[in-house]
Amino acid sequence: MTDIERKIREEFPLIKNTTLAYLDNSATVQKPQCVMDAVTGFYEKDNANPMRGLYELSLRATDVYESAREAVARFISHSGSSGEIKEATEKNPITGEKVSPEEIIFTRNASESLNLVAYSYGMNFIKEGDEIIVSVAEHHSNFLPWQQVAKVTGARVVWFDCEADGSFSIDTLKALITDRTKLLAITQVSNVLGRVNDVKTMAELIHEKGGVIVVDGSQSVPHMDVNVKELDADFFAFSGHKMYAPMGIGVLYGKKALLEKMPPFLYGGEMIESVTKEKTVFAEVPHKFEAGTVNAGGAAGLEAAIRFIEGYGFDFIKEREDMLTARAFEKMKNMPHINIIGGEKEEDHHGIIAFQVEGVHPHDVSQIFADSDIAVRAGHHCAQPLHKHLGIMSSTRMSIAFYNTEEEIDRFIKVLSSIRSRMGYK
Ligand code: ALA
Repeated sequence: MTDIERKIREEFPLIKNTTLAYLDNSATVQKPQCVMDAVTGFYEKDNANPMRGLYELSLRATDVYESAREAVARFISHSGSSGEIKEATEKNPITGEKVSPEEIIFTRNASESLNLVAYSYGMNFIKEGDEIIVSVAEHHSNFLPWQQVAKVTGARVVWFDCEADGSFSIDTLKALITDRTKLLAITQVSNVLGRVNDVKTMAELIHEKGGVIVVDGSQSVPHMDVNVKELDADFFAFSGHKMYAPMGIGVLYGKKALLEKMPPFLYGGEMIESVTKEKTVFAEVPHKFEAGTVNAGGAAGLEAAIRFIEGYGFDFIKEREDMLTARAFEKMKNMPHINIIGGEKEEDHHGIIAFQVEGVHPHDVSQIFADSDIAVRAGHHCAQPLHKHLGIMSSTRMSIAFYNTEEEIDRFIKVLSSIRSRMGYK
């Protein structure tokens, strides 16, 4: 381990003294101690029901929760150039329009965020005969809700297929957009392909027709600067647990004008102004979308995760992840019987390399890795339409975080190169 690798690993209790090479970071990442401390700290020092009481403890709990909302608004308002994610300073300005905390809704995870958009926006503003364009690379979380909207409203799902290399052509999208197009569902980075999509240009095209773009940012926000205002995303969803925060806290960003005209998704406590037997007046955004007791401990963890990422900066994080991706990719692309899914260049992959070993089922591949103390994921990765479109059933995926080490990548390559012979191939 290099010195910097040792320093990073020290922050992660679960993997600091382990022989496990954890290469399933697109599923969830390990948590640094500071995030666990923030969650525990909330329950040790600040626990009361936020937004309920007028006593000091409840006010403190509210402050913790709302401070996390402000941190998220800042986190997805950055200038778009790598590394510039900290508080605005003269040297490091955050330019342009910023996300308002009112545009940040806390959910359980990206799936819930996307369901919120589908049930509140989709079911109310999409009508029979309208068209919903869904990219073929969507995680099921950004397809199934739209399939339901289409089923209930009589709208039609239109597939936006990718090329063989996993790229999405703007010309293909142009040809799909019609006067009936109301919405485009697209991931910023696919959890199988690892490629960054040109969401900004896609947003421009959809907006020309008066439609909205719903972006799944789950695989982008842990790894790169994101500025949702620059992208001009109408909705942007992600999970905390893939960006070093605890499980059970997720985010939906939505443009305020859209959120204001949408009805609540869930009904219950603390999402109202007033209730009578006859009539309910709902709270302002974002609170009208946060029914019931909120996950304030999770929000505290999310703010700590944002500060953790900011402490390293995306220049550093991205450089390490690109270096580790290249280290694996360079070897894999020249290995016989290994077929990489998606782009032919390492820069198309952003820490995610899904592949097939010819003649060996991905579950067997993954089991061999597991036997060698290496964690990878096998299956369709909740992206069955993408696998079908590419003519395959399933794949094995390795995915990197900046805490992975060069030695772990080398071990991964060593085991990968032995798999066919271990399965009896000459
Ligand atoms: N969405 C997560 C993954 O890609 C679970 O593995």
